[in-house]
Amino acid sequence: MKQFILRNGISIPSIGFGTWKIPDGEASAKAVQEAISVGYRHLDLGAIYGNETGVGLGIRASGLDREQLFVTDKLWNSDRGYNRTIEAFQKSLDLLKLDFLDMYLMHWPASPALYENWQDINLDTWRAFEYLYKQGYVKAIGVCNFFPHHLEALINDAAETPMVDQIEYHPGQTQHETVDFCKLHNIQVEAWSPLGSGKMLKKDCLKNVAAQYGVSVARLCIKWCLQNGIIPLPKSVTLERICENYNVFDFVIAEDDMNVLNNLPYIGGSGLNPDEITLFG
Ligand code: A2P
Repeated sequence: MKQFILRNGISIPSIGFGTWKIPDGEASAKAVQEAISVGYRHLDLGAIYGNETGVGLGIRASGLDREQLFVTDKLWNSDRGYNRTIEAFQKSLDLLKLDFLDMYLMHWPASPALYENWQDINLDTWRAFEYLYKQGYVKAIGVCNFFPHHLEALINDAAETPMVDQIEYHPGQTQHETVDFCKLHNIQVEAWSPLGSGKMLKKDCLKNVAAQYGVSVARLCIKWCLQNGIIPLPKSVTLERICENYNVFDFVIAEDDMNVLNNLPYIGGSGLNPDEITLFG
């Protein structure tokens, strides 16, 4: 599988298997094992997904050497701050029964809608990320859902610039400003909900383009991410779809179709804005 190289030289497989909404226990163990069996070597987790135990079971059941997998996990918002971050990281390792993570991400920036001092909160949390990275507990560190102003505030005082920003990214939700900022600062962008949580699959404008290549809309969306230099993290619990989403290397989207897809208007998404959400603390 093609790899991308992060700013610190670490290789990351170009497609990750998303695990959001997969129930803990047997369901997540099975999905992860199946994903590994069809070839995925990159798993994207989150403490808030509540399925680290099952994912860990799936990893062990796969029989694959730990070193051959790239495992990302995320710090949840209620664990912000230096000490709590270190504790939450250890808890995730314990649930997964792993000794290290390949990458650890801050799941959301502290929301300016909730905290006047959101910059300080992010920096304090980031200091713990830097500690974990320097100690070798994790090979890469990054953030999710950061807009350029969140990144700028962090980078100004950080010892390590985030290696990744994982954002919502699918046709019509391209976050050009954030992607351009990340490219300028050599921050790898990853796409959560590359299929718009399944919503993109019903859009006629995408079905028409996909039909020209004889591929499904899911494969089109995943390949479109890759051709834009972005790592897609599709999620599925269905073996056939897990397989389909991984097999995107036998067609290339032509430049004019890339332009059409890159310039689609908003056609639906999560509606979550990191500057406005107050739901998550
Ligand atoms: P399921 O898990 O039942 O297979 P996203 O990755 O954007 O969050 O989208 C995930 C959603 O899209 C899930 O509901 C998943 O359903 C569905 N999905 C994933 N891959 C495919 C596919 N190849 N074809 C149809 N639906 C898919």
